Formats: sequence, C-alpha cells, structure tokens
Amino acid sequence: MLQSLLRKKTLTVPHQDSELARSLSAFDLVLMGIGAIIGAGVFVLTGIAAATKAGPAVVISYAIAGLASMFAALAYAELASSIGGTGSAYSYAYTGFGEFFAWIIGWDLLLEYTMAVSTVSIGWSGYVNNLFEAFHIHLPPSLTKNPFDGGVINLLAILIIAALAFLLSLGVKHSARFNAAIVFVKLITIAVFIVVAATHLDTTLWHPFLPFGWSGVMQGAALVFFAYIGFDALSTAVEESIRPQRSVPIGIIVSLLICTVIYILVSALLTSIAPYTTLNVRSPVADALLRINEHMAAAFIAAGAIAGLTTVMLVMYYGLTRIFLAMSRDGLLPARMGMIHPRTRTPVRIILLTGFIIALISGFSPIDRAAELVNIGTLAAFTFVCIGTIVMRISHPDLERPFRLPLNPLIPVMGILSCFYLMLHLPAVTWWRFFLWMLAGVGFYFLYSQRHSFLKS
Ligand code: ALA
Repeated sequence: MLQSLLRKKTLTVPHQDSELARSLSAFDLVLMGIGAIIGAGVFVLTGIAAATKAGPAVVISYAIAGLASMFAALAYAELASSIGGTGSAYSYAYTGFGEFFAWIIGWDLLLEYTMAVSTVSIGWSGYVNNLFEAFHIHLPPSLTKNPFDGGVINLLAILIIAALAFLLSLGVKHSARFNAAIVFVKLITIAVFIVVAATHLDTTLWHPFLPFGWSGVMQGAALVFFAYIGFDALSTAVEESIRPQRSVPIGIIVSLLICTVIYILVSALLTSIAPYTTLNVRSPVADALLRINEHMAAAFIAAGAIAGLTTVMLVMYYGLTRIFLAMSRDGLLPARMGMIHPRTRTPVRIILLTGFIIALISGFSPIDRAAELVNIGTLAAFTFVCIGTIVMRISHPDLERPFRLPLNPLIPVMGILSCFYLMLHLPAVTWWRFFLWMLAGVGFYFLYSQRHSFLKS
C-alpha cells in the first residue's frame, strides 16, 4: 500500500521542472544542523532562564530539553531515512496518515518555520544595532524598531531577510558553503568563551543551586527548548543530499549531540562567572564576560552571536521553502509556486513569497509575540513525529528502515510525553494563538487544498 501510495504521488505530480540538485554530504548536514541549532537560544535565553526560572540549575534545564529533543531527533532520523521526502513531517504524515493529517502538520510547520525565522531576525537586528552603536553609528529608532516598540519599521530585520532570500535563490550548495564558513566562526567564539570562562570559574556562584526549586528547572527547560530547535530542518534536505538514508540521520543526531554538549558547558560556565541574578539581559554571555573584564572575549561573543543567528535564519528559511515546495507539489498549496528555476535549481517563487511574509512579520512585530508560537508549533510537530514512528512500525512493519531508532516504542513514547509536558508549560495565550492558526488551516484545506489536491483528483 505504501509503495502504491508513493507511486501514485509521484505519478500525479504535474510535469514541471521540479528536480532539486543533489549536493549535500553528511558533513554538510552536520554543519547545517549546528548552523540551525545554535542561535538566540543559547546566546539570549540561557541568561533569562537562569535569572528568572532555574538559577544555576539551568544546566539541568538544558539537559532535560536536550533529552526531549534527542527522543524526537531519533524519531525524525528513522522517518527521514525510511520515508524521506522534502516535506519532513508533512511527507511522513502524508504517507502514514493520509492527506488531511499531512495538511495539518504541514500547516503547523509553516507556522513554526516562518515564526522561527522572523523571531531570530528581530533578535539579529537588535545585536547588529548594538554593534553599530558601539562604533558610534546611530540609526534612527524609527527605522530600527517596530511600531509596537515605538518605531515605524525594523529595517535591519527586513534587509537580512532580503539578503538570505538572495542567497537561497542562488542554490543550496552556495548556501551550504556560506553556512559552513559562519558555523566555523560561531564555534570558535563559543570555544573562546569556554576557555576564558573556565579560567575564571567560581563555584561559590553555584550556591544556591536550585533557588526556584524543581518546578523552576522544568519551566526553564520549556524556555531553553527553543535553543534546540533547528535539527528538524535537516529532514527537509533529503532530496538534496548524497546518500540521504545515511547522511540525514547522521546530520540530525550528530549535530544535536554536539550542541547539547556545548549548551551544558556554556550554561554551567555562565552561571559560574556571573551571579545568576544578573543575567536577565539581552546579551547575557557578552555581559558576563565584561563583568570579569574580558573585553576582547565579549566583543568576540557579540560577533559570534550575530554569526550564529544568521545561520539559524538561513537553515530555517531553507526548511520553510522545502516544506512549502512539498505541499505545492501535492497541490495543497498553489502548484504554480513550486516552479524550480532552471539554472539555480531552487524554488525561487516560494523563496520570494515566504521571504516577503517573513519580512512583513520581522519589520512590524515585537520579538516575544513571535517567539512563543515557535515553541508550541515545534513541540506539536515533534510529538506528532514520535507518534508517527510508532504507527508506521505497526502499519508498515516491512518498510525498509536504514536507520531504526533503538528501544522502540520506549524512545518515541518518552518523546511524546516529554514534548507534551513541555507544551503544558507554555502560556494559555500561546495555546489560543496556536489553536486559531490551526483553525485557519482547516478552513484553508476545505476551501482550497482539498479541491486542488493532485492525489485526490
Ligand atoms: N535553536 C535556534 C536558536 O536558538 C532556533 O536560535
């Protein structure tokens, strides 16, 4: 049945120029994973989580959120290697659960990725503006702030989205090279932080270790979960990877493992060089270094943060366009949008349209409103992917699985429980916004997608 469904899907896609170029190695994917994962989470949220939620025990929050992400990552790796598809969880749902569920997941992923890129671009513009200020270049607030924060338009955020749209249009290999160079900068700056902070270690600052108790640690985990988001974007690169059955699971698992180790080290060190109570600031890592008079290292970190945020946007934006492409190939979103440019072999129309929408959000909305929706959308997708592995093992036991997650069904069940548990720690207003978005998706499905679906027509 699975084979016939896949065949039917392939046959019903209209004959358009829809081939993407296959050029990414496992190494490229590991770098893309690190590029997508390390960003605003570790550079900004670690401080906020330590100061307001978990205290020095933020290191445990990171371990817990990392574990929940690893359960989901193993599930992603299994489905990406056995089902594949450019659409990530959307494609798995299409295969395992049918079109309506696939649409719901795809719609959820569009929200997650659009909001993730928007959120990070707003954070990026804040850091870049700080850098300008450091060089005594003062941009008018009307051009650096959104209307909710007393400005008119966040022009810097719009400009970075335009630049990334250009880069993505050039081709995935160009984007991967750019990503690799910047990931390198990001890793060096983090290494500098680790070495410098280790020489100033003051373990008395770890007392009290649990100032907000265990519930604070859990709330901290729900917050710093944001720092792990991004490895899932690798599962959209199946069609552009060399030997994807092997390279995509490697990319997902290795990049997440590396980032987990980095986060645990950084969060433990951060709270050992500055009292956790002082970390509720916009750039806690750089500020903590200033506190111990490491001015050079602080400047390094600011540059690293800008680099870090740039690659997060790049890879998440890339993922967004590939999910949109998968949905338009199936007719659930306008098929015309899925045209691949003959020379660059990239979905330029989708890159431009999604870039326009992201730029609108980035230019005119505040960061906190955008950020909360990212976490709930991602946790919902992770939960769904974990359910997907269990269902697929039962419904398609003979499916070839180049990567099989261990201890089935324990790992996916733990994934479902831990992701749902973290979702419960998100505010009610976030749940409402999420619900409204999904309701709009159901409406769109019945008014448009169902009638235009290639599979059903
Ligand atoms: N994990 C990404 C970040 O922290 C989304 O910026």
